[in-house]
Formats: sequence, C-alpha cells, structure tokens
Amino acid sequence: MENKKESSTFRQPIALVTGANKGLGQQIAKELVGHGYIVLLGSRKFDNGKAAADEIGQGAHPIQLDVTNTQSITAAAEHIASEFGRLDLLVNNAAIGQSGRYSTLTEILEASKASVAPLDELRILFETNVLGVLAVTQAMLPLIKLSTSGVILNISSAAGSLTLNSDPNFPYRPYFNVTYPASKTALNAITLALAIELEDTGIKVRAASPSFTATAMNNFQGTDTVEVGARALVLAALDTESPTGSFTGPDGKLPW
Ligand SMILES: NC(=O)c1ccc[n+]([C@@H]2O[C@H](COP(=O)([O-])OP(=O)(O)OC[C@H]3O[C@@H](n4cnc5c(N)ncnc54)[C@H](OP(=O)(O)O)[C@@H]3O)[C@@H](O)[C@H]2O)c1
Repeated sequence: MENKKESSTFRQPIALVTGANKGLGQQIAKELVGHGYIVLLGSRKFDNGKAAADEIGQGAHPIQLDVTNTQSITAAAEHIASEFGRLDLLVNNAAIGQSGRYSTLTEILEASKASVAPLDELRILFETNVLGVLAVTQAMLPLIKLSTSGVILNISSAAGSLTLNSDPNFPYRPYFNVTYPASKTALNAITLALAIELEDTGIKVRAASPSFTATAMNNFQGTDTVEVGARALVLAALDTESPTGSFTGPDGKLPW
C-alpha cells in the first residue's frame, strides 16, 4: 500500500464503511470503489472483512472494527491516520436487528412492545446502533476534519421516523416499538445534532434509509436486492453538495 509519508495526500477519496463484510455495507463499499474511492471495509471479524474486500478487488481494504469496542475503534482510527492521513467519507452502516435471543419476527415484535421489552435487549441494541455510531464518529472526526469534502452518512431507517409513525395512515405504524425502530430514532437525533454542530465546518452529516432489502438482518425476507437497496445510500454518500442535515430514502426526502 502507498505510504502516507511518500505521498502526503492521496488523490483518491478515502472512505470507511462499518459493518461492510456483508449485506448493504459490502454493496456500498463495492459501489464506492466503482466511484474511485479507496474503501476500508470495517468488520468485527477481520477474516470476514478480508473475504468481502477480496470479492470487491482493488481499492477495497479490510479493517478490524467492532463498533462496540473502544480499543478496536481507537486502533482503526490510528491505522487510518498513519496509512491515509485523513478520511473523506464515513458510512456508519453497522447495526443489529436484535440481540440474538429471538428466532422469529413474530417473537421479536411481541417482545419489542414498550410495555414488556427487556431493558437489556434495548441496551444491547442501543450499544451497537446508537452509541457505536457516536463512538466511531467521535474517533474519526479529527480525520474527517482534514478532508476538503467530508461526509458522515448514518444508515438509518424510515422505521425510526417519528413523523411517519405519528401518522395513523402509515402502514408500518403497528411495528413502531422501543427496540430497533427507537434505536434508529435515536440515531436520527444524533445525526441532526452532529449536523447542527458541524454546520460551519463544511462537513455534511446525513442519514439515509435503504428500501426493504433482503439481508441477514431480516432473514433475507426483504423485497429488494442489495443493489436496489443500496441506491439511496450510495446517492447520499456521494452527495458532497446539498445542505447538511438531510434524511433521505429511495423516494427522496424523509421526515425526521
Ligand atoms: N435490510 C433492510 O431492509 C434495512 C432497512 C432499513 C435499514 N437498514 C440498515 O442498513 C444497515 C445494514 O444492514 P443490513 O440489512 O445490510 O444487515 P446485515 O446484512 O445484517 O449487516 C449488518 C452488518 O453490521 C455488522 N455489525 C453488527 N454489529 C457490529 C459491531 N458491533 N461492530 C461492527 N460491525 C457490526 C455485521 O457484522 P457481522 O457479520 O459480524 O454480524 C454486518 O456486517 C443497518 O444499519 C440496518 O439497520 C436495513
């Protein structure tokens, strides 16, 4: 790999995608490579990230990154600093749908109701989907500040929109609950807070939702392929121009 000391600035933009060893994360990484990015594929198991990067080919590099592990996050930030000297795009994609204790969707939905949801289930979900995003972002921010066109993209979900779920006509309203959907609501709050804080820096902070995509997270019950599902995400990742603080999905703007 080219050394930062030999080439003080990489001409190619540098991106980090968390949870990129499979699913939408790997697809985002693949498309960013296609757009000329050097992409670091974050993976909590290095070998899975390596296999995913090998599948993509040149321009894709695995990096060990567990978003719930401070040591892992620090080591990843140090590695990016020493190898690349900056970060142009951070895609906070890694997330979990549940802790692993449930087997069926019906079981998850029943156990996710505000009246009964186990608090330790919420803690596990929020640790990855919310605090993990904030921890990675805080660690990478000094490197993003060195970019001339920094973008932070948080992969959220329309399921987390309070505006949509307040509407009695929203078809997914019955599925709004305090576990996964609420973790995406909290992620939206973090996205907006960061966008407001960084308004004067030129760094664009965005949230984007894929369409319902067949991935491990939903036991491949999603209706779209990763190619289709990732479209809105890649669009948002490449958007260095439009105003910060956006929340978009497959049909354009989404309400917070
Ligand atoms: N699929 C959909 O229809 C849909 C809809 C709305 C939003 N989303 C969002 O899209 C994003 C990608 O999800 P997906 O559907 O592609 O699911 P997925 O195939 O299950 O991928 C999730 C990724 O996150 C990683 N991950 C989980 N915990 C992690 C941790 N602690 N540290 C690092 N990586 C971790 C997983 O790694 P392992 O392989 O090690 O588990 C995996 O690479 C998520 O933010 C999800 O909420 C998906």
